[in-house]
Amino acid sequence: MNQIKMLISAGEIRQRIAELSEEISNDYKGKELCLLCVLKGGVMFLTDIARSLDMDVRLDFMDVSSYEGITSSGKIKINKDLSEDIDGKHVILVEDIVDTGRTLSHLMPYLIAKNPASLKVCTLLDKPARREVENVNPDYKGFVIPDEFVVGYGLDYDEKYRNLPYIGVLSE
Ligand code: IMP
Ligand code: MG
Repeated sequence: MNQIKMLISAGEIRQRIAELSEEISNDYKGKELCLLCVLKGGVMFLTDIARSLDMDVRLDFMDVSSYEGITSSGKIKINKDLSEDIDGKHVILVEDIVDTGRTLSHLMPYLIAKNPASLKVCTLLDKPARREVENVNPDYKGFVIPDEFVVGYGLDYDEKYRNLPYIGVLSE
């Protein structure tokens, strides 16, 4: 039976999202923004951040996979591509967590090739101790966390725990 120790409470997440959305609303004032969610982990973050932004946003979703169980395979596969054309659009990629940085290092060039007006990354969590790729630095980040496997608020372990309202550390 796995134990979950709370790392970031639902209230702390809510508070931080309010701060991030204020920053994003200011940075993109007068522009049309597309929030591109990386499924499935980014979905809770996307819906909360989208609802607290004081501006028009379009939403799109991509599903890429690079993870099996608890370790990274180091590769990504596109399971679901963009449905909208991002040519000339301001895009923010919304991620649950940046860990090794491999997903972003594959995804960013793929998206840049589609010619967006701008492309930034907003991640709820950043685990810099695990970074294997240089120059992967999210533009907006919720929390910097230590090198621990976390679940909840979109993040899973074998598809479990995504619906927890908080972020917790999984231990056996
Ligand atoms: P990357 O290693 O930066 O490519 O991270 C790829 C993906 O691995 C993230 O978007 C998450 O879906 C998943 N991941 C990385 N660290 C964790 C974790 O601590 N818990 C749950 N999923 C994780
Ligand atoms: Mg993810």
